[in-house]
Parts: sequence; structure tokens; C-alpha cells
Amino acid sequence: MTELRTDRLVLRGWRESDLEPWAALNADPVVRAYFPQVLTREQSNASAARFQADLDRRGWGWWAVEVRATGEFIGFTGLDPVEEGMPFTGVEAGWRLARPAWGHGYATEAARAAVAFGFENLRLPEVLAVTAAANLRSQAVMRRIGMTTDPADDFDDPGVPEGPLRRSVLYRLRAGAPRPAADARTDS
Ligand SMILES: CC(C)(COP(=O)(O)OP(=O)(O)OC[C@H]1O[C@@H](n2cnc3c(N)ncnc32)[C@H](O)[C@@H]1OP(=O)(O)O)[C@@H](O)C(=O)NCCC(=O)NCCS
Repeated sequence: MTELRTDRLVLRGWRESDLEPWAALNADPVVRAYFPQVLTREQSNASAARFQADLDRRGWGWWAVEVRATGEFIGFTGLDPVEEGMPFTGVEAGWRLARPAWGHGYATEAARAAVAFGFENLRLPEVLAVTAAANLRSQAVMRRIGMTTDPADDFDDPGVPEGPLRRSVLYRLRAGAPRPAADARTDS
């Protein structure tokens, strides 16, 4: 499978030693604020196994993210086909980091690398990203990497129970569209 390296990060396969910090971040109600529930240790382990199986099978997916300077595992970033049942199809980018890793630009840095891989290696015509309408931090990552949204694309996520988290937004980045450079701080 492909590993992606950025200035500060490596997007790599999952290791046994990732499972504990991965379970801890999935049990953090703040990290899971825009998901229906936190994950149990079993659910967390199963997700890592699924992600690694996808990476083994096709070479790309939800990569584990490690800080190169410290070797610390901080979460995942990557690309995955949009789940069936959504009102659109394609490949989406996604990210989930442990709280101490927020506020360093890591998600944006990792997302840029994943999206570049999608365009340059997978030759995708477009990369999508989806999140709850209320998840402004995730949408800020989307905008920082050059994605745009159209309110006409807002939708109710069929995978989310009725309630305030169901309303979701769709961001898009077309191949060839401007992608802000890594050092451009476009966040306001
Ligand atoms: C979504 C998530 C990954 C975003 O994390 P984040 O830390 O806000 O995003 P980034 O890693 O891109 O960091 C950007 C922040 O780091 C700051 N920053 C600090 N150093 C930086 C640097 N060298 N380069 C860029 N930004 C830097 C930016 O100014 C920005 O700060 P701000 O939030 O005060 O505006 C994180 O909130 C998360 O894991 N949430 C839970 C899971 C989730 O909701 N995932 C998405 C579901 S679709």
C-alpha cells in the first residue's frame, strides 16, 4: 500500500500500537460530537481492521496519521468511496484526530496529501467531503484545501438518525480547480 509523507506527517498503515489511542479518541465525546455516538473499544478495533483491509486491498483509504517528529499516532485522514445510500456517489476525503492534535494544521496538511494522491494517482475527476452542517471545524478543513459547497447540495444523511446531526453538507473539489498552497493560511 502507498504511504504518504508531508512536511510533518506520515499517512501509513495501521499498527497494533495505534489501537489504544484510536479507541481513546473514539471514546471522546468531543471528538464524536457530530456523530450519533462514541465507539466502544470493540467497534474502534473493528474499524481499524476494516481500514487496514481496505488499504491492503486497494492501496489507499483511511490511513493512520503519525507525527514524524515524535512518532505519535494522532488519528486518520484519507479517501474512501462514498457509502451506498447517499444521494451522490464518488470518493470522499475524511479526517478524525485526537483532541491534542487539533489546532496545528495537521488535518489540513494530511488532507492536502490525500487529495493530491486522489487526483494524481487515482485520476479522480473530483473529491467530495461530507459532514454535519453543524461541524464547522471539519468544514474549515474543507475550505482550507480549496473545496467549495453549494447550499443546493445540502442533504439529510440517511445513515444518521433523525435529529440535529442529520442535516449535512457536501463539499466538492474538481481536479484542476485551484488548491491553496500548503503554506497559505486562508483561515480567518
Ligand atoms: C475536523 C478536525 C480534524 C479539524 O481539526 P483542526 O485542528 O480544526 O484542523 P487542522 O488540523 O487543519 O488545524 C487548523 C487549526 O490549526 C491552526 N494552525 C496552527 N498551526 C498551523 C500550521 N502550521 N498550519 C496550518 N494551521 C495551523 C489553524 O490556525 C487552525 O486553527 P483554528 O481552528 O483556531 O482556526 C478535528 O476537529 C476533529 O478530529 N474533529 C472530530 C472528528 C470529525 O468531526 N471529523 C470530521 C467528520 S466529517
